[in-house]
Amino acid sequence: MGKLDGKVALITGGGGGIGSATARLMAEAGARIVVSGVPGDQVAATAAGLVADGHEAIATVTDVSKADQVEAAVAAAVSEFGSLDILVPNAGIQMHDRDIGLHDLPEEVWDATMNVNLRGIYLACRFGLKQMLKQGTGGAIVIVSSITAISGPSENFAYLTSKGALLAMSRNIALTYAKDGIRCNAVCPGALERTPNHDAHLRPEARAAMIKETVPLGRAGTPEDIAPMITFLASEDASYATAGTFVVDGGRTQI
Ligand SMILES: NC(=O)c1ccc[n+]([C@@H]2O[C@H](COP(=O)([O-])OP(=O)(O)OC[C@H]3O[C@@H](n4cnc5c(N)ncnc54)[C@H](O)[C@@H]3O)[C@@H](O)[C@H]2O)c1
Repeated sequence: MGKLDGKVALITGGGGGIGSATARLMAEAGARIVVSGVPGDQVAATAAGLVADGHEAIATVTDVSKADQVEAAVAAAVSEFGSLDILVPNAGIQMHDRDIGLHDLPEEVWDATMNVNLRGIYLACRFGLKQMLKQGTGGAIVIVSSITAISGPSENFAYLTSKGALLAMSRNIALTYAKDGIRCNAVCPGALERTPNHDAHLRPEARAAMIKETVPLGRAGTPEDIAPMITFLASEDASYATAGTFVVDGGRTQI
């Protein structure tokens, strides 16, 4: 018996990094998975890998900033697997090279970041909640924020602001929909390696050195370090956990 047997999970930004690691772990726990996101070839590859290993999964090409595409992804979960029980709004962008210094921050960088990191998560939650309420059987939402929401320093102002707002959103989804049996929690990952985000960093060597120095556990995290927390929070093992913020950062925010 898997801990997520019978559950249907939709994960945005499922084409790589935390999203695809979570898709795999949830599939191994018995969930049927909708891998949503862009680019299409990456979400298709994540889903195909799961199917090749005997799991049930589909991919949807979904730009989370587009309402019709997010609505269609939720509809695909229902038409393919019959319900939506778990939602992981995970897709996010960090424009390392342009999101620098608030006094000079270009509006298009701010808008692009908010479009994916805030609007995208609002849309996923809006359509996901609507479906969960329609089903009337509760549900679990795990929003992927970041430690930049709760501690500094970070030079990426648009990014950290969007991630901070997600904590308020997550807490209030939890409080508003608790009566409907829907739990909502936020996960704050620390600095990771082996993610597309990390590969795009401007100064990867400096980042690696900074991580070694400032993370008490002495290493960067990986997507596989974060996926278990997300999967736990989505499962019945976490049935008393809601409105929480769960930090997985090797101890970094406590120094
Ligand atoms: N990597 C890190 O160090 C780190 C640390 C803390 C938080 N996070 C957060 O974790 C989440 C996952 O990040 P990651 O590092 O695993 O990979 P990532 O940052 O590359 O992004 C995750 C996925 O989202 C997809 N995506 C981008 N724009 C999208 C859009 N408009 N619609 C749909 N999908 C889109 C990407 O293609 C990618 O597959 C993000 O929200 C990120 O901010 C990452």
